[in-house]
Amino acid sequence: MTKARVAVFISGFGSNLNVFLQRREIFDHLLVVSSNPEAYGLKRAEEAGVESLVLASPIDWQALDQRLEKENLDWIFLAGFMKILPAGFVSNWSKCLFNLHPSLLPKYKGLRAIERAFEAGDEVGVSIHRVVPEVDSGEVVLQKVAVHSSQLPTLNLQEVTEEVHRVEHQLVGQWIDKFC
Ligand code: GRF
Repeated sequence: MTKARVAVFISGFGSNLNVFLQRREIFDHLLVVSSNPEAYGLKRAEEAGVESLVLASPIDWQALDQRLEKENLDWIFLAGFMKILPAGFVSNWSKCLFNLHPSLLPKYKGLRAIERAFEAGDEVGVSIHRVVPEVDSGEVVLQKVAVHSSQLPTLNLQEVTEEVHRVEHQLVGQWIDKFC
């Protein structure tokens, strides 16, 4: 099997990016793209010897498109990327785009997903889905419950959030196994 060429888009801490970085030898090429010059994920990439690209603000989506064309990518994985992709960009890359979202989609799309599920006393979990122009709405390819509603009374929001992150890292690993 040929090795995959993958771009991971981030905006911050990059703990999910780290799952890719830990397995960088299995990729033909790994490129980190950050919307935030201060993202800790950039430091992780540098330490791992992985190339990164910091986007201008505002993002020049056409320039990014052109740059990515040259990379001959198999996949683009959004791991905590906090910018909304314009429809044109999504349609250009729709076959290779995936996003990680901290809820059991189609429930709790959008921001503060963990908090909203927790406050509602609902199951909390993680989804990886294909990207379509409507936010958090594409086909779900992997999904896992992190905290069942019966466990919620014994846990506070921080504990639930930590559990979600643990499951995110597992699910990102499963996505790599499945697609790369
Ligand atoms: C994750 O919870 C992801 O689901 C959300 O943003 C967070 C990013 O975390 N969209 P990290 O930067 O990978 O640590």
